Amino acid sequence: MALSTLIQELQKQYQLDKREIEVVMTYVLKINTAGLFIYDKELQQPQLDTIHQLLEKRQQGIPFAYLTGTKDFWSLSLNVNEYTLIPRPETELIVEYVLEKTPSDFDGSILDLGTGTGAIALSLALERPKANIFAIDQCSKCVATAMSNKDKYQLTNVTVLQSNWFENLTGKRFDFVISNPPYIAKDDCHLSNLQFEPRSALVADKKGYSDLEHIINHAKHHMTKTAQLILEHGYNQSEVVQQKLKSNCYLNVKSHRDLAGIQRITTADAPKSCY
Ligand SMILES: C[S@@+](CC[C@H](N)C(=O)[O-])C[C@H]1O[C@@H](n2cnc3c(N)ncnc32)[C@H](O)[C@@H]1O
Repeated sequence: MALSTLIQELQKQYQLDKREIEVVMTYVLKINTAGLFIYDKELQQPQLDTIHQLLEKRQQGIPFAYLTGTKDFWSLSLNVNEYTLIPRPETELIVEYVLEKTPSDFDGSILDLGTGTGAIALSLALERPKANIFAIDQCSKCVATAMSNKDKYQLTNVTVLQSNWFENLTGKRFDFVISNPPYIAKDDCHLSNLQFEPRSALVADKKGYSDLEHIINHAKHHMTKTAQLILEHGYNQSEVVQQKLKSNCYLNVKSHRDLAGIQRITTADAPKSCY
């Protein structure tokens, strides 16, 4: 059977988008999307079985990244699993921002709070090999995953630690403090689309603000005089995050839009006073 006919049949059988079927096919056949148009071999039964198994799981809503165990972020292919958030493309805005603010031989320090797979910390480690990068997460399985990704790319300038936010960072200060913390409110309707990702990576008390607030309150004690704080937050949270930063005496508070035009990150300089 021609591949295009098989794709149509699978689309009908699983009621999934054509693109979903194609992604699974390219993964199983180890080809790229263009390769689907010229593929002329007969599919073997084990390949067909794997395609059906994966499509059944996609039909249940399990994200493709959890099925393959990897997700591309920046220039990395990161190991992911049920304990880690799947890194999102919009988070690359943080990486872009730090790269804009630092020369290629930057040898300062960077802290990534709630590192998950290590997405932000490891991308920066690769781009700024002289920087001294700390990546922390409360979840031990996330720490293990971030370490596996660090080893995968042999990045020697990253330290991965288990810590409840700043708890195990006493006395340490950084030139950049970065976080993409949990920021979704418990009753947010978007959570129903995120049921396969860990709640501990997504949900925060106080209508989604408790972790952002904790980081804003404590980061200043871990920042060098010229340091910057960079926070990712929800699409409608920039105003409140700005207010919290300003009331904590951070300076030069600004929000930045992602490619979809959404105010996705807010940055601020370390306070000069108010310690
Ligand atoms: C939204 S995910 C971000 C993951 C990763 N930085 C990314 O952008 O893909 C938030 C991360 O914060 C971690 N986290 C939640 N509460 C924490 C806490 N109290 N201390 C440290 N990390 C925490 C979660 O385990 C999760 O990995």
